[in-house]
Amino acid sequence: MNKFAVKAAHALCALGLGLALAGSVQAATSSDEAIIERIKPLGQVCIAGDDSCGGAAAAAPAATAARSGEEVFKASCAACHATGVLNAPKSGTADWEPRVAQGMDTLMTHAINGFNAMPPRGTCATCSDDELQAAIKFMSGM
Ligand code: HEC
Repeated sequence: MNKFAVKAAHALCALGLGLALAGSVQAATSSDEAIIERIKPLGQVCIAGDDSCGGAAAAAPAATAARSGEEVFKASCAACHATGVLNAPKSGTADWEPRVAQGMDTLMTHAINGFNAMPPRGTCATCSDDELQAAIKFMSGM
């Protein structure tokens, strides 16, 4: 073999090794994906309003008309706020006076993020901010 042939052989070897490595990396990636696919949970939680539910489901909340404060209250807030469970301010009573005095911004922040025993969004995960505010107005008589 002359010098040129040796160099060419080395070059081909390097190329071959490179391809082989590239090939195995490729294989590792696709088998990882296959494993993830195989072990993924059967049921996946989707959150109303984002696109994890698929287009149609995600579009649904937007299509529904906003619920009134009374509807939201009855469906989601009354469980605690009708009777004052866990010292929740009771709807339609003076319990709300010191709360209202804090201003709507504070009430909304607490309603959205939760506040002590008050759960985030008052457990109404599908309620828009406007719907929460309508419920607060309904309960507090604002
Ligand atoms: C699991 C019971 C529970 C449910 C359901 C619930 N709340 Fe509350 N909420 C509370 C409690 C308890 C407090 C009092 C928290 C405190 O002051 O420590 C409270 C307080 C509040 C306050 C006053 C926060 C402040 O800054 O003083 C607002 C506003 C409020 N809730 C809105 C709502 C709305 C709107 C809903 C329904 C969408 C709702 N809550 C559902 C328990 C609940």
